[in-house]
Order: sequence, then structure tokens, then C-alpha cells
Amino acid sequence: MTTINGVTKRNTSHTTSNKNHQIGNKEHITHRKKFNINSISWTPSFTGVCILGIELVVLVVRLVMSLCESLYRMFLPPKEKSIEGEVVLLTGAGHGIGRELAFQFASHGTKLVCWDIDEKGNHETKELLAKRGCKDVWTYKLDVSNREEVLATAEKVKKDVGDVTILVNNAGIMPSRPLKAHTPEEIRKIFDINVLAHFWALEAFLPSMVEKNHGHIVALSSMCGVIGVANVVPYCASKFAVRGMMESLYEELRSEDSKAHKSQIKFTTVYPIMVNTGLVKRPRNRFPLLLDMLTADVVARKIVKAMRRDYKEISIPVSMLTLDRIARLLPGKFIQAVKDFVDTGIDPDDL
Ligand SMILES: NC(=O)c1ccc[n+]([C@@H]2O[C@H](COP(=O)([O-])OP(=O)(O)OC[C@H]3O[C@@H](n4cnc5c(N)ncnc54)[C@H](O)[C@@H]3O)[C@@H](O)[C@H]2O)c1
Repeated sequence: MTTINGVTKRNTSHTTSNKNHQIGNKEHITHRKKFNINSISWTPSFTGVCILGIELVVLVVRLVMSLCESLYRMFLPPKEKSIEGEVVLLTGAGHGIGRELAFQFASHGTKLVCWDIDEKGNHETKELLAKRGCKDVWTYKLDVSNREEVLATAEKVKKDVGDVTILVNNAGIMPSRPLKAHTPEEIRKIFDINVLAHFWALEAFLPSMVEKNHGHIVALSSMCGVIGVANVVPYCASKFAVRGMMESLYEELRSEDSKAHKSQIKFTTVYPIMVNTGLVKRPRNRFPLLLDMLTADVVARKIVKAMRRDYKEISIPVSMLTLDRIARLLPGKFIQAVKDFVDTGIDPDDL
């Protein structure tokens, strides 16, 4: 018999149950009167019921407070935190959103560590930053999907710059074709770069953040990590995986919180729709006036703003996540009809 939160829990495994039968009929009848949930029976004690009652009241207060806070925050967003002097590591800094993020972070006085497999692009980013007066930039060429390379380069970064305090897992690829036309090698590569690379960077940089109880992880998912899209099945799956990874890691750190220690490591997952970086080679958009391609600079600005406000997640445009939540309450056929009408998506690269 064990006691959890004042509630007495009796394990009635087969052996215990059989023993009860042997003890006698009286015990057996008492046993049947208790709640039976599979093989576990619960005997609520008076203290247990009181504690549960108090916990329920606390829960209701917390729920009401969180709803009020969300409402209040809709009109008055949180103050943007200062990131001056932080060491920001950007993967995929040599092009597109990564490069624009470098510009945005630099404008807030951070040190920048730029990682990219494309040495030329990364060097260009550094030159453009220098023209903007930003000198605290370190560039490294590596394949973020190669764990050994990531860990070795992370050691160099620690020596050259110090501990990374803001990690932006941005590098990604998006080959687009029907699933049957994807090769197994291509599917593995998509997962290696879009998902596993996040794990290797976390392996390298999360421990020092945990040790100092200070840090921020930003991950580029996509609206393709929220809604399934044809012709990019492995990409969508990889972006759904990023979402799951970020949410569960956040929960894991939260579960280790105690009264004496609360994790101050923040998480921001980003879900943009299509951005004009060239990653999406053949976008299909029936209503461009309504939902046009985003520009990388706008997306980068919104990401940095969301990060500085410690938002856990953000879609760009911001309404997309809310629309998705509402859509999931509606019948599947209803949503399919809307999707067919809107007819927006991604065509295969090599049509
Ligand atoms: N462009 C979009 O429409 C869009 C929409 C939603 C989400 N995203 C996500 O945003 C992120 C950035 O996309 P983007 O549009 O800027 O792409 P991009 O192709 O313009 O830039 C990606 C950068 O990552 C680098 N990179 C690719 N593989 C790498 C590897 N193995 N190691 C190191 N660097 C590597 C590339 O060299 C490039 O510089 C991606 O994760 C993407 O999935 C993009």
C-alpha cells in the first residue's frame, strides 16, 4: 500500500488479489466496494480528499489567471528583453532567413556565430554585417547534420567566443516532389538536416545553458509543421518533428522545476508560411493578394521580436496558428473544401 498526495493507493496485482481471496470473504467484499480501475484500487482518505479539493481550487485559480493574462497580453504584449552582449549561434546564416536573422540580432548588439555549409554565403553575410558596423562575427563552415563536426566546431566556438546563450536552429532543406519520387537517401537527408541537426546543436550548447540557468533556443519549424501539404511529405514530417521536439524539451525542463529552482531557459518555435528565399521553388498561390509570399527580412524581424518577448511559439502571419486551432474543431470535409477552394501549396521542383 502506498500513499500519494494523501490518497491511499492499493496495488491489487494478481498475487495480491489472490491473497485477498484467501484472507476471507469479508475482506473480499470490502475490496469490491472500493473503486476498481483495472488492477488499481483507490481508498480516499479524509486528508486526501481535502488536499485534492485544495489542489482543484488552486487549479481553477491558475486557469482563470492564465486566461486573464492571455487576454491582457493580446492588448499589451510583454516587454522585449534586452539581448545585448548575448552570444547568438545561427545555423544556415549564409542565406535567406538565417542571413536576415544575423542582421536583426546584430542590430540588438549581440555577438554572432554564423554556421553554414556554404562558406561563400556565410562569408558574404559577414561582409554585409561589417558594412553595417557589426564586427563581433565569427563564421564556421560545417555540415550541421554531421554530429562529430557539430561537436568539434562547438568546442572551437567555446574557445573563440565563449558559451552560446541563444541558439537558433534555422538551417533546413526542402526538396519538393511526390513521396514516391523521393529516394530513401533524400528522405534521410531531410531528417538529418531538418531534425537531427537540432539534437546535435542542443547536445553541444544546452548543458552550459542549464548550468548557468540562462539561455534561449529558437527553432525554425514551418506552417508545414502544423498542416500537411502535398509534395513535401518528408519535409512536413520533419517540421512536425521539430515542433514535437521543442514542446517536449520545454516540458522536460519544466518538469525539473522546484520551488528553489525554476528553469530560465526559454523556447521559441517559429511557423512561417512561404518566404521568398528560393527554398520553395514552385509555390502555388491562388490568392496572392490575400496571402502573399513573405519576405525574409520581415520574417526575421518577427522572429527576433517573438524571441525577445519569450513567446513559446509564433506563426507568421500570427493568425495562422489560431486559424489552425479553429479549423481542427471543424469537420474534415469542411476543411478539405476550404483547402480545395484556396488551392495554395507547393508544386514539385522538377515539373
Ligand atoms: N523559405 C520558406 O518558405 C520557409 C517557410 C517556413 C519555414 N522555413 C524554414 O526556415 C529555415 C530557413 O529557410 P530559408 O528559406 O532561409 O532557406 P535558404 O535555403 O534560403 O537558407 C538555408 C541555409 O541553410 C544552409 N544549410 C543547408 N543545409 C545545411 C547543412 N547541412 N549544414 C549547414 N548549413 C546548411 C544553406 O547553405 C543556406 O544558407 C529552414 O529551416 C526552413 O525550413 C522556410
